[in-house]
Amino acid sequence: MKPPEKFETERLILRKPCMEDAPAIFTSYAQDLEVTRYMTWTPHKNIEETYGIMQIMLKSWEEGSAYSFAIVPKDFNSVIGMIAMHPDGFKVEIGYVLARPYWGKGLVTEAARALTNWLLQQPDIYRVFATCDVENPASARVMEKVGMVREGLLRRNAIRRNICNEPRDSYIYAIVK
Ligand SMILES: CC(C)(COP(=O)(O)OP(=O)(O)OC[C@H]1O[C@@H](n2cnc3c(N)ncnc32)[C@H](O)[C@@H]1OP(=O)(O)O)[C@@H](O)C(=O)NCCC(=O)NCCS
Repeated sequence: MKPPEKFETERLILRKPCMEDAPAIFTSYAQDLEVTRYMTWTPHKNIEETYGIMQIMLKSWEEGSAYSFAIVPKDFNSVIGMIAMHPDGFKVEIGYVLARPYWGKGLVTEAARALTNWLLQQPDIYRVFATCDVENPASARVMEKVGMVREGLLRRNAIRRNICNEPRDSYIYAIVK
């Protein structure tokens, strides 16, 4: 699987991130405890942490282990979120995060739909899936709106350190062809 470095949707550019995006990423969402509440990572304490994560993201692009895309509105040329594909043979997991002022406008659904559509057009990809915490209905709703179906409950699946140190239950959603 070799995704393009840029997708375009009605309102968004989804593009390979670069180190210069770090300040916008740090400021817009990575240091925000409310945004990161249901993530498996804790809010970034400083911009150096964001630069470190960016390096890992770019290395993953080179290795083909994960492809992260900066979410950039066409009418506001700065990064407001991130959406990623994690390939594993014939299946791909997606994950996403968005800065708080932009929630509830359908933006992540638009981004996730573009990636999912592209993925299902690839001959060797049969399954696109995502998981979310059982108490994160906004994320579950995004999955439903892109056509994924809830397949089940993954018990004690993920540690979300912003909530507690014990593994919590997740829902798993997927779309297949
Ligand atoms: C989850 C997240 C990515 C959604 O992005 P978004 O662009 O706001 O999503 P959309 O606007 O496309 O859709 C959100 C849907 O969830 C619904 N929703 C939001 N909060 C909700 C709640 N508390 N209960 C039920 N539904 C809720 C919205 O009404 C909308 O559905 P609708 O279009 O049917 O009305 C964003 O809220 C976010 O970044 N959260 C923090 C990070 C995160 O949790 N990432 C996912 C980890 S699995």
